[in-house]
Amino acid sequence: MKKKLLSMILAVTMVAAMTTGCGGSEQASSGGAKDSDKLVGVAMPTKDLQRWNQDGSNMKEQLEKAGYTVDLEYASNDVATQVSQVENMISNGCKLLVIASIDGESLGTPLQQAKDAGIPVIAYDRLLMNSDAVSYYATFDNYMVGTKQGEYIVEALKLETEAGPFNMEIFTGDPGDNNARYFYGGAMDVLQPYIDAGKLVVKSGSVDFADVATANWSTETAQSRMEAILSSYYADGTQLDVVLCSNDSTALGVENALDNNYTGEWPVITGQDCDIANVKNMIAGKQSMSIFKDTRTLATQVVKMVDAIMTGAEAPVNDTETYDNGALVVPSYLCEPVFADVDNYKELLIDSGYYKESDLQ
Ligand code: BGC
Repeated sequence: MKKKLLSMILAVTMVAAMTTGCGGSEQASSGGAKDSDKLVGVAMPTKDLQRWNQDGSNMKEQLEKAGYTVDLEYASNDVATQVSQVENMISNGCKLLVIASIDGESLGTPLQQAKDAGIPVIAYDRLLMNSDAVSYYATFDNYMVGTKQGEYIVEALKLETEAGPFNMEIFTGDPGDNNARYFYGGAMDVLQPYIDAGKLVVKSGSVDFADVATANWSTETAQSRMEAILSSYYADGTQLDVVLCSNDSTALGVENALDNNYTGEWPVITGQDCDIANVKNMIAGKQSMSIFKDTRTLATQVVKMVDAIMTGAEAPVNDTETYDNGALVVPSYLCEPVFADVDNYKELLIDSGYYKESDLQ
């Protein structure tokens, strides 16, 4: 009899464990609420680029710490995959969406579904375009990223005092990523006067945004474009003085191309993200600078926004003018990007715990 009672208790305990365990690794929500009451969908573009892996895991960790349940999805840079991931998040009953889009224009249908279901949407790092379903935008100051890159070039080449001319080539990002226009615009606002004055010369003639864009921010695409430019304009020994690269994945492609096909003095090269491969190149003298955007800071800011929205409070913003997505000016929080180079990377990246010293060896 005693034995029978024991096995009944065991069976009941096992069923209970199985039922509460169906949220997988997700933590139980606080305050006795159901998991789905605190379910946040986080849609990220791709695992191919280092930064999005960090963004995703920071977001998941910080949201879970704050008591939310997280559905984190990556879309392999495929727009149709991201559309269906967001649609699934909505039908699974998420209460809020955080989306870093692949193409800011392509999520109109799921965004409308979110709006119809009363689900608030935060655009993460990249603005979601042409939709009034976007509640907030959290990002780094994208224009400032570009101006910092441009100003670095002005100083590195001493453009104010040196006569030049200096040869420059330009690589920016994906045309479907609204940020790319801000990075490019910020840098070109600084550099265009020197191009106009003939101090900076773009031998390839590719200066317009459409001509210097890099689909999907692909390292390989940047590498083959740089190889083509080198063979057409620099194979005769012409010196390449500077390459404006909007981010690290494009800078890496340019550096690979130079490694294989260029024997002149190594040019000044800009970047953004402080990806491990690029910090290593910075240490090796192959990349001059990068812009550090601490993804932990962005995640913290987004968690504050999520908390405010979920409790019916006003979310913290510091810009209500810049980011017009075509349907509305989206209230935004802009974090400050920081300049990084070989002289300050240890303090910025290692002392702050962003990387371990061994990551960079
Ligand atoms: C981000 C950059 C990143 C690029 C490529 C942009 O939207 O702001 O940090 O380098 O996408 O992933």
